[in-house]
Amino acid sequence: MKPKVLITRRVPQQGIDQVAAHCEAELWDSDLPIPRDVLLEKVADKDGIYCLLTERINDELLDAAPKLKVVSQMAVGFDNIDVAACTRRGIPVGNTPGVLTETTADFTWALLMAAARRVVEGVEYVRAGHWVTWGPMLLMGPDLYGATLGIVGMGRIGQAVARRAVGFGMRILYTDAQPIASAEQEFGATFVSTAQLLAESDFVTLHVNLTPQTYHMIDREALRQMKPTAILVNAARGGCVDPDALVEALRSGEIAYAALDVTEPEPLPADHPLVHLSNCIIVPHIASASIATRTKMATMAADNLLAGVRGEPLPTCVNPEVIPGLTLPG
Ligand code: DGY
Repeated sequence: MKPKVLITRRVPQQGIDQVAAHCEAELWDSDLPIPRDVLLEKVADKDGIYCLLTERINDELLDAAPKLKVVSQMAVGFDNIDVAACTRRGIPVGNTPGVLTETTADFTWALLMAAARRVVEGVEYVRAGHWVTWGPMLLMGPDLYGATLGIVGMGRIGQAVARRAVGFGMRILYTDAQPIASAEQEFGATFVSTAQLLAESDFVTLHVNLTPQTYHMIDREALRQMKPTAILVNAARGGCVDPDALVEALRSGEIAYAALDVTEPEPLPADHPLVHLSNCIIVPHIASASIATRTKMATMAADNLLAGVRGEPLPTCVNPEVIPGLTLPG
């Protein structure tokens, strides 16, 4: 008998084919998230779930899925998953680290440059028919070359962003749990306090996981510490920035601009003030959305799922302490 699995959304076909070749796969065949009640019903007889960051994997779901052997998420981030709850039940959780690092770093730069050089405003200006002449002061913005870049979180993606900053001749400041010698050697980056990074950076870019410690780390106080000319880029998780504080800071000129791939909440309602500020650009969580990367993420999640339903170690597991089949007490 083939294992029964649920794939919670249409994902790149290679991922689906890979799963379907070895499992009795049920696909939520839609571009919209599976409703919660349907999800809870469908996991009842499943050995594996192939999920996205839009599904909450918590005790409620795990209770509804008594046969579950694996949770495989098609994303590197997993703040939607209660990993401790999975671990307690002996369920391994897979994610897709590494494959999206360069793609996400590229997109961070797309956001940073679009904000600095006011690309979206320029497009809107032309589309609105306002372009009547070359303007000596039209849509001016700051230079990147020689500016100071503050990287909050020098993990894989932070380092890939730093590598690109070297080409722009930037001074690189960073924060992390501790200094990272290789980043200092390779990029000439300087480890500083968060306060120094916020005060001295022309561009602040976030590359941390969302945890209780990083939730709203960019709050009123942090925004107040930034330069009035500073540009904030967030391609990490929306919850790292307090959206109300950001609206205030952008309106009052406490900072100059924000470029966001992620928001809190997601999706951001179309009538949210951030959507309508001319000094804020927002895109719908697409930093990893290159064709090749999303395809690799889909097949990597399939590899994890297949390993999990077979009771084998997952190629990329966030709770490798789980021994297949072993349920921890508590
Ligand atoms: C992730 O993988 O965590 C991104 O946010 C989506 O690619």
